[in-house]
Amino acid sequence: MTMLIDKQKVANSFSRAADTYDSVAELQRDIGHKLIDLLPHSAPQRVLDLGCGTGYFSPKLHSAYPSASLVNLDLALGMLRFAREHRSVEQAYWICGDAEALPLANNSIDVIFSSLAIQWCENLPVLFNEIKRVLSPGGYFVFATLGPDTLKELRQAWQQADSFTHVNRFLSLEEHLSALPESLVVEEIQEEERVLRYRQLKELTDELKQLGAHNMNAGQQTGLTGRERVKRFKAAYEQQRLVDGAIPATYQVYYAVLHKPLEE
Ligand SMILES: C[S@@+](CC[C@H](N)C(=O)[O-])C[C@H]1O[C@@H](n2cnc3c(N)ncnc32)[C@H](O)[C@@H]1O
Repeated sequence: MTMLIDKQKVANSFSRAADTYDSVAELQRDIGHKLIDLLPHSAPQRVLDLGCGTGYFSPKLHSAYPSASLVNLDLALGMLRFAREHRSVEQAYWICGDAEALPLANNSIDVIFSSLAIQWCENLPVLFNEIKRVLSPGGYFVFATLGPDTLKELRQAWQQADSFTHVNRFLSLEEHLSALPESLVVEEIQEEERVLRYRQLKELTDELKQLGAHNMNAGQQTGLTGRERVKRFKAAYEQQRLVDGAIPATYQVYYAVLHKPLEE
């Protein structure tokens, strides 16, 4: 269940992508909006946007809970700087930190919102225990994350080209559920498959770069990717064009609402 994620690489890659992320994050915005609709109708005092990125959802969270203070937390300092500059709302706090070691007090947050961030975590039981620790009794964790079919075409194309890991591995729903501590109760789970379509492979690979969503697995091959292997990769991806000629990129998305009961 432990993923070999290089967190410094995650932070650097997302920091570098801060200026371009919003211009290509249409799917990410759709997913986050759907997640906003799953927020509980409660009156929280403190809300956390975990892995807030460019802060796109800060104003939306502020409108959902106008009297709450909003803590925006991200591993990437570059993302936080961008968010604070462009998306500052009243009663907002900005923290550079790691979801797996939250610099927050026990029982201090009433609603945690997290869209497309926890797939970059290394150890789900550690993450969920941190969530349980900082949530106040009666609190909610509302998140969206990616499943193993995400970017399957990209993974398959690289597998045909060489034996290195080029694309992140994403965990299954079962792996997520089995990592939950008893005291986090599942209120809702939804799953959705989205297939993005591109005219050219380069549009997809450029977009992933602009999103900062590179392969973050530790121990991947370093140095230049050989020209011959890249050629093989491209040819293998081309084979996966759809009947109408589009280059597909699948995203498997999980949405979940977890609840920490008032009494354990
Ligand atoms: C794909 S972006 C999503 C940003 C935003 N939530 C959105 O939906 O637009 C993922 C964000 O999660 C952050 N992130 C990755 N691993 C993290 C961790 N361990 N702790 C906190 N943030 C993390 C990244 O720095 C990045 O800003």
